[in-house]
Amino acid sequence: MAQQTMRAIRLHKYAQAQELVLENIPRPEKPGEGQALVRVHAAGVNPIDTALRAGYMQNLIPISFPATLGIEMAGVVEEVGPGVTNLKKGQAVYGNLLYDIGRGSYAEYMLANANTIVPMPKNLDYDHAATVLHGARTAWSGLFELGDLQAGQRVLIHGAAGGVGIYAVQLAHWKGAYVIATTSTQNVEFVRSLGADEVIDYTKTKFEHTVHDVDLVFDGVGGETLEESWHTLKRGGMLVSTIGTPSEEKAAQHGVRCAQVGFPKDLANILSQVTALVEAGKLKPFVRKVYTMDEAVHAHLHSETRRGRGRIVLRIAQSD
Ligand SMILES: NC(=O)c1ccc[n+]([C@@H]2O[C@H](COP(=O)([O-])OP(=O)(O)OC[C@H]3O[C@@H](n4cnc5c(N)ncnc54)[C@H](OP(=O)(O)O)[C@@H]3O)[C@@H](O)[C@H]2O)c1
Repeated sequence: MAQQTMRAIRLHKYAQAQELVLENIPRPEKPGEGQALVRVHAAGVNPIDTALRAGYMQNLIPISFPATLGIEMAGVVEEVGPGVTNLKKGQAVYGNLLYDIGRGSYAEYMLANANTIVPMPKNLDYDHAATVLHGARTAWSGLFELGDLQAGQRVLIHGAAGGVGIYAVQLAHWKGAYVIATTSTQNVEFVRSLGADEVIDYTKTKFEHTVHDVDLVFDGVGGETLEESWHTLKRGGMLVSTIGTPSEEKAAQHGVRCAQVGFPKDLANILSQVTALVEAGKLKPFVRKVYTMDEAVHAHLHSETRRGRGRIVLRIAQSD
């Protein structure tokens, strides 16, 4: 029998967005031990995809070529491999594909590590579901696993309108923290609607002049924003960054702690807690824009602007 093919967006070397190519390639077939074969309906487009593509992360996470990017996915299980008991054929699922980097969701079918995908919330469509788990996982890990954020504490969230930030604001609000968030003018009301108690328009106000005595800084911006954030913390507080490694020396100078969000400590717990919150309507995704597979280059160029609300989607299934 002739091998079935599928459409996939592939990358043949570290390159600019324009080098992403839509190709017909053999479809993955049998899932191996611990894997599920998933028919992908939609993929989230994340800054990590553009960083991997450009080679900025090649020392940390080298990828082999040809590579298929995509760390977030929503789709339907076609078949499960040996040892997979949490999923079944025909189930709608979504995931944060942390073990499948370079063999990701910008393709009509993928073999996903079954520990990184779970049944999709019943109240979401595929486009929205594909945007949840990378951002929500990062926010949960930073706020709760590393930051140990508690009700009544004050948290400063930078990059609050982004694909990670929207979850950081909603999760911190859900926890009962007092949320101070930074964003640009066009997103101020949007971020307030997510549950922020105070929103600072970074194009008009320097947050370091007005914010002080916070217990936790959750930084999704980096650079100068990270550096100015040390002054906003109370002694004993903590700075958690999603970008780069904050300086332990500076933390010590300010009498605070710091950490960088990396691999989550308990992914299974995060996947189940986030799914329950989405189904309860307490955590809402926001789709910035939907692109087709033919428009993958534009989706990457858009993501690289690092501006806007929520997450960009690449729609993979043609018959949604
Ligand atoms: N460590 C990890 O595990 C991990 C996981 C996920 C993401 N990340 C990293 O975390 C960062 C954020 O990711 P993301 O997916 O949220 O990015 P994103 O979706 O591209 O969002 C970026 C957001 O930053 C905002 N922004 C830009 N400049 C700002 C400033 N000076 N002050 C406050 N907000 C500003 C933009 O809002 P406006 O349009 O309002 O300016 C935009 O909403 C990226 O660098 C990503 O690589 C790390």
